[in-house]
Amino acid sequence: MAIDIAVIPVAGHGTRLLPATKSQPKEMLPVGRKPVVQYIVEELTNSQIRRILFITGASKTSIENHFDIDERLINYLRESGREEELAELDFERKDVEYFYTRQRRQLGLGHAVLCAKSLVGQQPFVVALGDSIIGINAKSDIVQRMVEQFETAKADVVVAFEEVPRNEVVRYGIAAPRGPIGDIFELQDVIEKPSESEAPSNLAVAARYVFSPAIFDELATTKPGKGGEIQLTDAMRSLLKKGAKGIGLRLPASEPRFDIGNYESYYQAFVDFALADPDHGPALREHLKRTLK
Ligand code: G1P
Repeated sequence: MAIDIAVIPVAGHGTRLLPATKSQPKEMLPVGRKPVVQYIVEELTNSQIRRILFITGASKTSIENHFDIDERLINYLRESGREEELAELDFERKDVEYFYTRQRRQLGLGHAVLCAKSLVGQQPFVVALGDSIIGINAKSDIVQRMVEQFETAKADVVVAFEEVPRNEVVRYGIAAPRGPIGDIFELQDVIEKPSESEAPSNLAVAARYVFSPAIFDELATTKPGKGGEIQLTDAMRSLLKKGAKGIGLRLPASEPRFDIGNYESYYQAFVDFALADPDHGPALREHLKRTLK
């Protein structure tokens, strides 16, 4: 059966984006016209995902509100003949089921994914991190391609990777590939936030994963790792060590990852998406040219 369920962890505090994230989730920050999390849902639904489980936390209820069908707003727009604005709410009507559960203690990304165990059960599933958009306007079918690899290679773990400068490996999970590194490669090991000298490559985990349910057993016994948190990377690592099959897919240059986890990359993402806006991009481009002169 095709994989149709995805888990989006959104429980993190977003402290690197304070004060913007004091009372609103970083996943609801706008990038161009839409909040981050809407792009992620659109990307996933374009890759055949039909059930989405958010792992949420305190002050994240606006995510749930965003995906509700707001009849009052729809009626108001319809009655006042604002068809264009009404069309902006089409995403509410997608053929998707949403589920929400709270990560009641902040024990790390691995623990957040473990919170999905009861709903996901014994089936393979996708994990998409809530603070990364793949491709401009989420135009990426990386998850679809990962799912295909998962099925054809009978893998247990498939991870998307992007190349990062050597001095940035310390911020990411880093791949140790086995054999030649093509667009698709075999994954021998993954190390969470290694030092430059420990890093086996400069291929960084890029926020999209496909797992067999075997990951839950690993997560249940994974001890706190980097930063004192239960790391998803450590659970993958121990699964791979036991002989599970791991595959890495490199994000093509045409589908970069936009990281909304800090101001530097958030500003860049916003500008790139705003420049791509068919209505307002050209005027912004002129404005930036004048400003940068
Ligand atoms: C998490 C993962 C890391 C991954 C990164 C970007 O780190 O632990 O392996 O490379 O997301 O997808 P965080 O950014 O939460 O520190």
